[in-house]
Amino acid sequence: MKFEFINSEISSIKADLLVVLVVDKNMNHKFIQHKKEFEFFGYKGEDVLLLSEQKTLYVGTPNLEYDTLRKTSAKIYNAVKNLNITSIKMALYAKHCLKISTQSLVEGFELISHPFEKYKSDKKDVKFQKVIFGAQEYSGRPFKEDKINEGIRNGIIMANATNFTKDIVNETPEIYTPLKMAQDAQNLAEICDNVECKIYDEKFLQKEKMNAFLAVNKSSAHPARLIHLIYKPENSLKRVIFVGKGLTYDSGGLSLKPANYMLTMKSDKSGAAAALGIIKGASELNLPFEIHAILGATENMIGSNSYKPDDILLSRAGVSIEVQNTDAEGRLVLADCLSWAQEFKPDLLIDMATLTGACIVGLGEYTSGILGNSAELKAKFKELIAKSGEMATILDFNEYLQDEIKSQIADVSNCAKGRYGGSITAGMFLDKFIQPEFKDKWLHLDIAGPAYVQKEWGYNTFGASGAGVRMNLYFLCELAKVGLSC
Ligand code: BES
Ligand code: ZN
Ligand code: ZN
Repeated sequence: MKFEFINSEISSIKADLLVVLVVDKNMNHKFIQHKKEFEFFGYKGEDVLLLSEQKTLYVGTPNLEYDTLRKTSAKIYNAVKNLNITSIKMALYAKHCLKISTQSLVEGFELISHPFEKYKSDKKDVKFQKVIFGAQEYSGRPFKEDKINEGIRNGIIMANATNFTKDIVNETPEIYTPLKMAQDAQNLAEICDNVECKIYDEKFLQKEKMNAFLAVNKSSAHPARLIHLIYKPENSLKRVIFVGKGLTYDSGGLSLKPANYMLTMKSDKSGAAAALGIIKGASELNLPFEIHAILGATENMIGSNSYKPDDILLSRAGVSIEVQNTDAEGRLVLADCLSWAQEFKPDLLIDMATLTGACIVGLGEYTSGILGNSAELKAKFKELIAKSGEMATILDFNEYLQDEIKSQIADVSNCAKGRYGGSITAGMFLDKFIQPEFKDKWLHLDIAGPAYVQKEWGYNTFGASGAGVRMNLYFLCELAKVGLSC
């Protein structure tokens, strides 16, 4: 879509339709002109009211919080996408920062207008493609033109990075193999400023003794790849490393998933895909951090060469792992990738993974889990991601759950004994691979719920949502402002 700010009164701007927001059912604010029609149509300011003769669309919005604005954009988009119009005009609306409010509106439009339609022959032909913001603000506050334009620009970057990730996650497992992910990473490095990419094959994994990662790949027809992207601007403040679970398909392996649980497991690459989106966004936003993305890309398949329950794997970190369930494969890939990532001495180490079904059971499908050792870092992360609109909540480790992942015959088991606390025990498993120096610099984000939802929700289209991308880009933007105290 296209966005433009025109520094003149709304009435003098040319567009096919005027959009007016009805904030918190306030039917009397200065942009409202058609009270008689409200009465006739029984419009109470909640949903949408399209007045075709007056070429005006009224859209109810409960408030002007950032994420409500994103949802409001989606509401507008859904109301106009079937109309024979190309452009709308609207005023500026903000309760908090005007720049981020405009940014949020732009994100909402960009995200909802990017569904996964590649394989549909009857693609919807949406004519609507332009939003023009005029120079009037809802509560009459003054504004700077360059801030509005910055908001528009940042909104486009945030949403494009998210849509880029959505496309990767939505792509089918037949097409999207570890080699395809490696190719995409290389292409990304070519088009982005200050980004380089290195791809490592099985020989490298063997040399590095990444036996846990290699075990998961054993019965796949597609070779595994370790993908390393580095965004390095000139004056970088700190080094932030993202590690992503890149399971291009998770069948469960010999501990095979039931048929209905296997469906959607193309989305098990969401953590790695999010890390790619973050690199794209960070480079376009020119963020002042050195940012790495380390992706463990493989399938988890079933065959005569599969790794087995009862196997004991010697991981790169020297920790031996008893395999009790081959479907708990993500933590094996991450164990070796996290171990390797620490060689680069991160100031902050964040892994993202669709790691556990338990996280969805516990939090619902719209919320991610934030796990780690440092209460301070977890709290700070939760606080600094608030404006992104991505929902995430803290799941604390506790010593009593340690028992769950104890093994009688190896250093740790890859599967908890009991049924309870599966996301936390998975996080505590990963913690075994974090060296003392990095314990308080590490966060684990379980994005299993929101990464892929089989319905449209808010401004998110059916399927992949790009979970983790905006969350971390907003986090990094805020961090650049407040500094990194860890
Ligand atoms: N990829 C799955 C987790 C998952 C489930 C993500 C549903 C998204 C939606 C992961 O590899 C897995 O299978 N985990 C097991 C772990 C168990 C065997 C300890 C799970 O959650 O059931
Ligand atoms: Zn699995
Ligand atoms: Zn998995």
